Amino acid sequence: MESKSLIAQQLLSDPRVAQATELLTAALAEHSAKLSARGPIPELTEPYQKWLDVFAQLRGNALFFPYLGSGAGQGALVELADGSVKYDMITGIGVHAMGHANTDLLPELIPAVLSDTVMQGNLQQNTESLLLSKQLVTLANQHGASLNHCFLSSSGAMANENAIKVLFQHKVGSSRILAFQNAFAGRTHLTGQVTDRPKNRVGQPLTVPVDYVPFFDASRPEESTQETLQIVERYLQRYPDAHCGFIMELVQGEGGYYSAPREYFVSLCELLKRHKVPVFFDEIQTFGRTYAPFAFQMLELDEFADVVTVGKMSQICATFFRQELNPKPGLLSQTFTSSTTAIVTARWILRKLVEGNFYGPQGRIADIHSRFVRRFEAIHAKAPDRIQGPWGIGGMIAFTPLDGSADAAKKVLHALYEAGVIAFVAGAGPARVRFLPPFLSLTDDEIENVCDILESVLLSPELNS
Ligand SMILES: Cc1ncc(COP(=O)(O)O)c(C=O)c1O
Repeated sequence: MESKSLIAQQLLSDPRVAQATELLTAALAEHSAKLSARGPIPELTEPYQKWLDVFAQLRGNALFFPYLGSGAGQGALVELADGSVKYDMITGIGVHAMGHANTDLLPELIPAVLSDTVMQGNLQQNTESLLLSKQLVTLANQHGASLNHCFLSSSGAMANENAIKVLFQHKVGSSRILAFQNAFAGRTHLTGQVTDRPKNRVGQPLTVPVDYVPFFDASRPEESTQETLQIVERYLQRYPDAHCGFIMELVQGEGGYYSAPREYFVSLCELLKRHKVPVFFDEIQTFGRTYAPFAFQMLELDEFADVVTVGKMSQICATFFRQELNPKPGLLSQTFTSSTTAIVTARWILRKLVEGNFYGPQGRIADIHSRFVRRFEAIHAKAPDRIQGPWGIGGMIAFTPLDGSADAAKKVLHALYEAGVIAFVAGAGPARVRFLPPFLSLTDDEIENVCDILESVLLSPELNS
């Protein structure tokens, strides 16, 4: 709502705000431009290690990487508090798709910083939350889905938790949920039970039975499709009317970056529809990163979407659901929606996704993917035992290093980190290395530099030791 009688509008149109924004943007651009990849500054090494030790003590556990950011960065480059500057190919596990210290984003954030509250919540929200919900719902339904509603939350696990609660309330009397093997749904008590990793829920009582179904196997497409369908049918017969829904990642994220052809998902979704089992697409990791804003749009599964969740690069997480699943008041609520800056950033990212040329076979995401793949294949041609595909999908890039063991992946990740590239693991059998690059700002030169470092790490004789 725009009105000159609102004090908020008068503040934002004060010429001092425009002037300050210009100054801040210029300062950010000037200082960020000084960054280039480098190792640590010697005199900072010791105090940095002390900070890491204190942090490990406070958390009760050491960090996976010795990573403490300084607060500076530019695009894919990030400065750590020991002065080193590295290429960030994991971006907070898929969150900072816009890159570090984005100077186009900064002017959008100034009104958010000047806004009356840091956080917005369910009871008191500002207009940005309404506008974000509208953008999200419009984007989700652009190719025919019927996701009438969207409830905002501040973590992927919470978005999934809300989704599962909506499903249970909708399907009265249901008590079980279907999920794929190797699913990752989060780490709350409920989503931790859906996540197919017993070591993540040690000591937790199991309250919701999860029926796991094997995922598509590209090495035996026909057979594995039939296997999935038969196992689902078996569960549905064994527990009639007991399943609140089937939660599925269309590209398995933590499971190792594997997807399946459209026909696989269509036959599965049709089977579920025949049995009145709602279909829930967990797009916390896929959102924005495949060849359409939603992976269900890429796979043209819009008609099947009953519940969908997004997170990570959307900054704010959200649970979408059809009108007939709209829960009774009281089921969903929370103190925080998120911070005003995060909400404004989410709006900016969604605008970029819609206005930029990111999607489709000729889009920037496909281009980025093929640039990485070209380099991965060239390294594979030189040393087939050092790197193997499949290479992931779109902005979810992965490879299997060495023999695919967890130790090998860890070794490669730490060697890459030392050499100046931050990546992370995905999957367990085999253990893979994944990149979630900041594709909104990533340059071709950054891709080449990262792949040069990767090549020198993978071809280094020290990796054998
Ligand atoms: C598919 C999927 N669902 C849910 C989650 C949980 O999200 P969060 O870590 O924001 O709670 C993740 C996180 O990696 C994810 O990849």
